[in-house]
Formats: sequence, structure tokens, C-alpha cells
Amino acid sequence: MDIEERLVRRLRSARHVLVFTGAGVSAESGIPTFRDALTGLWENFDAEALATPEAFERDPAMVWGWYEWRRAKVLRAQPNPAHLAIAALAARVPRLTVVTQNVDDLHERAGSHDVLHLHGRIDRPFCAVCRRPGAYPPGIPDEPEGGRPLEPPRCIHCGGRLRPGVVWFGEMLPEAEWDAAIAAAESCDAFLCIGTSSVVQPAASLTTMAIRRGAITIQVNPNPTDLDHSVSLNLSGPAGMIMPALVDRVWGEI
Ligand code: OAD
Repeated sequence: MDIEERLVRRLRSARHVLVFTGAGVSAESGIPTFRDALTGLWENFDAEALATPEAFERDPAMVWGWYEWRRAKVLRAQPNPAHLAIAALAARVPRLTVVTQNVDDLHERAGSHDVLHLHGRIDRPFCAVCRRPGAYPPGIPDEPEGGRPLEPPRCIHCGGRLRPGVVWFGEMLPEAEWDAAIAAAESCDAFLCIGTSSVVQPAASLTTMAIRRGAITIQVNPNPTDLDHSVSLNLSGPAGMIMPALVDRVWGEI
């Protein structure tokens, strides 16, 4: 891996490393991203009709069925070498914070702890009315590509409809996670931005906060983003290849 010795030394001496991930980190596990040409979810499905509170009010069965298809994909997926390298990093640095925009649990299944999920979790449904948590029956739903209309289950407390536990367009991020992510971005000395297009706010502003603070910033992405020239180092390639190599090169064999 071709990194200047000066950057390697700065990374190695970092006391607090923040890893910020997006859909690209799970792409090699077979979970589609949102904006990649051809395969991205928002290239093939209408976000307005599936990922807004208004869409759920209008057609709860269509929204629920589509998320059941995505949940099945997550349940069948396995962590890839990028998730594993990030989990391995925890034992090699004094402090590691993992912040993700992903609604899957692949970081946790790879061994990462206390992951801050800014956009919620697909496996944590809650009641659209009283907001108390709901639960899925065990097993993997068998859904066709893109899902099919399915009436959402009802809340056992109030009878309201359960909804997927994700943040939709127009909704606030979970407050505790967002506050903790800001605090981490403002105190970290190394920031790794992995597999995100960095276009969705406010999550994407974490990278700018870290840049402003003077942290060393590294982007891992096979495609260009608006941050290519703002980060300290841009590593172009798939996270499953780059992350194990980066951790090996800087922090020692994994
Ligand atoms: P995007 O789909 O916008 O971006 C995914 C990024 O991953 C792109 O920049 C790709 O180039 C990159 N990528 C693809 N394959 C990769 C690989 N193997 N290794 C590394 N990078 C790879 O996804 P996000 O940035 O995560 O919001 O999108 C942010 C938010 O927009 C999501 O959390 C979701 C979506 O609407 C909500 O669900 C609220």
C-alpha cells in the first residue's frame, strides 16, 4: 500500500480514530448501495415513494414489503474483510469510534461494539403511533426482488402499525447517536471516511468537521466524491481490499 511515511506516522500516533461508513462498506457483502450507477437502490426505486413518512402513511403495505426484502438481504449477508478490519482496529488504537449511516448490523457481526447508527437499524421496528419497539418473528422473510405489498404487523401495546426502524427523508437523526458522533468528530485525530458518497446531510458534515478540526482524514472509495481534494489521503478502491491493507500497513498485521 502506497502511503507516505509521514502520514503513516501520524495515523499510528492517533489517540482517537473515528471510522465513518456508508453503504459502500457493505457492498461487497451483497447489500446494494443507494447511488451507484445501475445497482444503486435510488437508481431503481423511488425514494419519495418508499423512504418518507408520507409514503408510509399513503401505502404502508408497499413500504413495509420493500423493507422486508431489504431486511432479508441483510439477514443473508455476511460481514466482509472491510467490516472485519474495522473491528480489528479497535484493539490497535487507544480509542475507536465507529459511526455508520448503514441500517445493517454487519459491523456488529464483525465484532465492532457501540456502533453509532445515524440512520437507524432495519432490524429494530417500532410503532408508528406510540413509538414503542416492536419485534420481528424469527427467520428470514422470503421476498421477491423489490418486495411485495405486505400489511405491517400491529403494535402489541396500542394497535398502531409497526414501521421499519430506519430514518426516512425529512426525519431527524436519533439525537443521542448524532450528539455522540459530533463529539467524536470534534475530538478525533484520525478520521476514516469509507464507502459513502458524502451527499446526505447532516451525516456527511462529520467529515468536514474533522477536516476543520485538523484531524488526518482518509477516504476509501472506488469512485470520485466531492471530498477527493479535501481529505489528507484518497485511497481509491473497494473497501474490502483497501481496509485490511491499510490496517496492516499502519497498525500491524490483522
Ligand atoms: P451511497 O449509495 O450514496 O454511496 C455509496 C458510496 O459507496 C459511493 O460513493 C460508492 O462509490 C461507494 N462504493 C461502492 N462500492 C464500494 C466498495 N466496494 N467499497 C467502498 N466504497 C464503495 O450511500 P451512502 O453514502 O451510504 O439514507 O448514502 C447515505 C444515505 O443515503 C444512506 O444512509 C441512506 C441513503 O438515502 C437513509 O436511509 C436515511
